[in-house]
Amino acid sequence: MVVHTDKDSLSSDLLPRRKQNNKIGFVPTMGALHHGHLSLVEKALIENDSVVVSIYVNPTQFDNKEDLNKYPRILQKDIQLLQDLSGDILLYAPNNEDIYGEKVSSKHFKYEGLEHQMEGAQRKGHFDGVGTILSILFDIVKPNKAYFGEKDFQQLQIVRKLVELQQIPVEIIGCPIVRENNGLAMSSRNKRLSEKEFEEAAFIYKTLQKVKRKFSTTSIKRINHFVKEQFLHNSCLKLEYFEIANEETLVPAKHKMKDNKYRAFIAVHCGNVRLIDNVPLN
Ligand code: PAJ
Repeated sequence: MVVHTDKDSLSSDLLPRRKQNNKIGFVPTMGALHHGHLSLVEKALIENDSVVVSIYVNPTQFDNKEDLNKYPRILQKDIQLLQDLSGDILLYAPNNEDIYGEKVSSKHFKYEGLEHQMEGAQRKGHFDGVGTILSILFDIVKPNKAYFGEKDFQQLQIVRKLVELQQIPVEIIGCPIVRENNGLAMSSRNKRLSEKEFEEAAFIYKTLQKVKRKFSTTSIKRINHFVKEQFLHNSCLKLEYFEIANEETLVPAKHKMKDNKYRAFIAVHCGNVRLIDNVPLN
């Protein structure tokens, strides 16, 4: 596997593949790879001839300096994990200059209101940063298909909207959440949890499973109350938000409406680590 740190060398490595009409898959990541990321790469390898994986901790999508500084960067370990997979993988691990030139800044994006909910409401400018980096990466890689995890479900819907509005010729593929044995959704940020916090954090998915069981028989108002109560009694985890929202619009639901698809979304602080998760409800 060749590691490219600049876009020109990646592009020239891709050129002969494009000339042969190879299907190119793309998995954008911020590194500190785990089995969630690898599941995306494996799916991309099955569906394409060649797969580009990018590893770049994108500063413009962080609203919190401490989170950006503490984000794990372990490129050599990541390279090892990718080398253990078989298939034609090209790794692109650029620096800020290769992506942004001299000025690291983001553009403003509108995603027909998807950006105002949950992560967008809590993390100012986050989805502007995500839209900026993905527009740049799609332009460099020009993939046929790009793979995103349902772990960041709002991001997945926003990326679908981004490529629709900007008419970027790429098919967006959503992939299921990969979990730890205790149910916690895998995340690069889990590396910052202590052993005790890691065990405590299993409570997040346990609660979401209870919500899923209750959904057909209990009102949304009651479920919202139930979740708040659950976290009041937990000294280790602090609930930031819990929403039951329409999967398409991401607008929080007050009542269940026939033929609508709903998902429960949650953000929780465990020590100084922020964790998110979601489950489909119907
Ligand atoms: P990152 O958090 O590294 O995630 C890269 C991709 O892996 C995303 O599509 C994310 O949803 C997916 N992923 C993470 N954990 C997962 C899990 N447990 N199961 C399944 N998929 C999982 O998301 C980003 O990076 C960035 O915002 C990025 C899109 C790269 C733009 O900078």
